[in-house]
Amino acid sequence: MTTLTATTATTVTQLGGRIGAEIGGVRLGGDLAPEAVAEIRTALLAHKVVFFRGQDHLDEAGHEAFAQLLGTPVAHPTVPSADGRYALGIDSHHGARANQWHTDVTFVPAYPAFSILRAVTIPPYGGNTLWANTATAYTHLPEPLRALADGLRAVHSNEYDYAALKPDALPEALAQYREVFTSTKFLTEHPVVRVHPETGERTLLLGNFVQRINGLTGRDSRTLLDLFQAHIESPENTVRWQWRAGDVAIWDNRATQHYGVDDSDDHERTLRRVTVDGDVPVGPDGLPSRLISPEAVPAPSFGIPSGASNGSADAEAEADAASAASAAPASA
Ligand SMILES: [Fe+2]
Repeated sequence: MTTLTATTATTVTQLGGRIGAEIGGVRLGGDLAPEAVAEIRTALLAHKVVFFRGQDHLDEAGHEAFAQLLGTPVAHPTVPSADGRYALGIDSHHGARANQWHTDVTFVPAYPAFSILRAVTIPPYGGNTLWANTATAYTHLPEPLRALADGLRAVHSNEYDYAALKPDALPEALAQYREVFTSTKFLTEHPVVRVHPETGERTLLLGNFVQRINGLTGRDSRTLLDLFQAHIESPENTVRWQWRAGDVAIWDNRATQHYGVDDSDDHERTLRRVTVDGDVPVGPDGLPSRLISPEAVPAPSFGIPSGASNGSADAEAEADAASAASAAPASA
């Protein structure tokens, strides 16, 4: 375990060999000093997920105000917020839980750069969350698999078989969740390897919103997805956090996947998530992700559409120009 003392009273304690650090000596909020924000951002980019204990003072407004120090908050494209603004409710009473490895909102091109999750009510046991480092998952691949991944693109969607994921959920709850979650059906093509816009690292961009890998049969697609996911989910490549009420976790959503363990039976588990707007991914060949459908990412009920703070419209125009130039089949 490494302990680094930063320039302020902030401490950064590494938790795992490849991912995770706990940050101490910080009271999160909209009034945090710029040096502390810079230290958090540096630790976040290095360790991919950072944890803070004892942030019980935060409410929805403080949570959002802190998020604004990392970028532009963005609401979920389809699920209404818990506060009418940006705070998404992660609630154990929903029909579907996050017990699948995923990166948040990858069914749109410019999915969030950061997610900030605050624990409100924590069950007496279980309900931990795991994160995996998708940059080290890539660098630890043998060279032939890295070369293979570099050339692949995959289609992500918010429409999948909820009943297959959660066979013991109440059918009515599942149907209701699905109706809201997929009120707009998105299809987005991403490179399987993303070049990180801030660190330059290559990361594997997969997770449970992936439907298939372009140009492959369903069976080959599933085989390759399982192969790459196994490297992402390997225990050495992950960190696990046992929540207490008042904890905050922030992850670099461009370099991680996460998994909410569904093992606290019927106990209440309530968290709030605010996401920070991201930009359109670019593969090793320089080709950006592209939205297949609908024609544009609609604005949520509050705030900007995903990617609007980072000029995603320009990147999509470039993607269209690039596919036209390479005489690729016309997109829908
Ligand atoms: Fe998530």
